[in-house]
Amino acid sequence: MKKRVLSGMRATGRLHLGNYLGAAKGMLALQNDPDYETLYMVADAHAVTTPFDPEELRHSRRNVIMDYLACGLDPEKSILFIQSMVPEHFELSFYLSAVMTIARMQHLPTFKDKIKQYPDHATMALLNYPILMAADILLYKADLVPVGIDQEPHLEIAREIARKMNEQYGLSFPEPTRFATKGSYVPSLSGEGKMSKSVEGSYINLSDDLTIIKKRLAGAPTDSGKGSVLPTSGGVANLLTFVELFEGIEKRKMYEELYLSGGIRYGDLKNELANAIDCELAPIRERREELETKSGYVDEVISVGAERARKAARITLDEVRERMGLS
Ligand code: TRP
Repeated sequence: MKKRVLSGMRATGRLHLGNYLGAAKGMLALQNDPDYETLYMVADAHAVTTPFDPEELRHSRRNVIMDYLACGLDPEKSILFIQSMVPEHFELSFYLSAVMTIARMQHLPTFKDKIKQYPDHATMALLNYPILMAADILLYKADLVPVGIDQEPHLEIAREIARKMNEQYGLSFPEPTRFATKGSYVPSLSGEGKMSKSVEGSYINLSDDLTIIKKRLAGAPTDSGKGSVLPTSGGVANLLTFVELFEGIEKRKMYEELYLSGGIRYGDLKNELANAIDCELAPIRERREELETKSGYVDEVISVGAERARKAARITLDEVRERMGLS
């Protein structure tokens, strides 16, 4: 039997280079592998767990679907859908919350981080975030979840819930595991941490053209260009990682040698890098622009995706209701 794969991205604006290399490329490879059945979701309801703007959210959920399509995700091969259009997620999430204690949820590092970030937003929705995510996965009895390592605590919750539901109600949820795709770690342009939508100056959007890519790279911090040891963290180290990702390891080695000898001219490095990134993004940007003119097609993808997802979701939900004495 085919392994079921489910993944999702939060609906927070457009996808950036980090999402593409770190997640979307892996999702694409699985979609095209006949051993897997793939479901890819836009986690729009998860966006309401932290402060958000309704108008922006309305655009974001659609934009993420369009970015998925532009990256090559194919509605003929994967079920592409928007989470909140499948209300079964919320119903299951509520039932699942009955096997988890408040204490367990409060102690999650992801929860603690978020309330530090938004001290006035320690809401029930935020506390429930991982339970909704467990529902996303268990609703389709997915075996594999391609996500970043930062999501491991959430997957642990999903496994715990699966075990408890199986023990207490005789259900048969598989325990989902994280699937490490060949995605790359994409660092921040700012020199600290990973590329992130929430850090200005850290990212390049998939829709950025050459001029904007150049402008964003121009803001990346550098140094004098030479030294006796190669920097292992910070702006220059990250730029070298980008060189490797887009121009190959040989190019990186060349710059490393320059650094230790005559010195790197960052203006040249950034120019070349901008062109290489633009080359990779151009086809995605073109497909994306084409989709802008095909709003009927995008509507169709969204509604067909929701219908297909609901069909699968209802099977699980009927079983859960029956086992829990709710039908
Ligand atoms: N929490 C995930 C993230 O921030 C997004 C997400 C929501 C997700 N539901 C999911 C990922 C289900 C995988 C499966 O990246």
